[in-house]
Amino acid sequence: MDERLNGLKIPTHVAVILDGNGRWAKGKGLPRTMGHVQGAKNIEDMMYVFDELGVKYFTAYAFSTENWKRSEDEVNAIMVLLKNHLAAGFKKAAKNNVRIRMIGERTRLSKEIQKLIADLEEDTKNNTGLQFQLAVNYGSRDEIVRMMRDTAVKIKEGIILPEDINEKYISDNLDTKDIPDPDLMIRTSGEQRISNYLLWQIAYSELYFTPCYWPDFNKEELIKAIVEYNNRDRRYGNAK
Ligand code: FPP
Repeated sequence: MDERLNGLKIPTHVAVILDGNGRWAKGKGLPRTMGHVQGAKNIEDMMYVFDELGVKYFTAYAFSTENWKRSEDEVNAIMVLLKNHLAAGFKKAAKNNVRIRMIGERTRLSKEIQKLIADLEEDTKNNTGLQFQLAVNYGSRDEIVRMMRDTAVKIKEGIILPEDINEKYISDNLDTKDIPDPDLMIRTSGEQRISNYLLWQIAYSELYFTPCYWPDFNKEELIKAIVEYNNRDRRYGNAK
């Protein structure tokens, strides 16, 4: 543990909007996809950093429902990267006691990626180290629509009554069921938007924006975010 964190509260759950891969690459005269290569690698490196600093849950926004609108070449490159990391680095994390889950709508992903994700989820379900969530084809509004449709069917079939719906029911039926709400939400690259990420879940989260591009986000940057988090006057949430 880093001594700068002595006496500080560590957020239980940190959600990250990893932004700036394209600009990182451009600044170095590289193609955009090289930014994604580096960004994907950094997700893996950061898993160990989150774990080392005592953060229990790390949720990374890798691909949004909006991201399909990018060029076919870019989408394909991201999907290849995703497949390769699921098959290699994430498997390694699985052996290091990391629990891996996916949030988002799965059926639009290739069968191969769906299977890699399902296998990782099954193989890591009893892991007790870092709880890592990868948001893929994720959009908060889409998540809420799926939950609402499922709820409507349950009501129609008499499985639940309208009065069974309350805040707990909703939390328990989103993709993030069993995962505490984020204490801290970080967005990299200087943009200050939420971009349809975890809208229900971040009701009480602290928001932290840094100009650092995601491929450069490292332990030092995470420590800065945690120090800033400790300077906030926080009234709700689940951090110890
Ligand atoms: C944001 O940068 C990045 C994305 C929307 C895609 C991120 C995808 C990966 C890192 C690959 C997925 C692989 C794994 C292992 C999960 P941007 O392209 O929006 O950057 P810009 O705003 O500077 O253009």
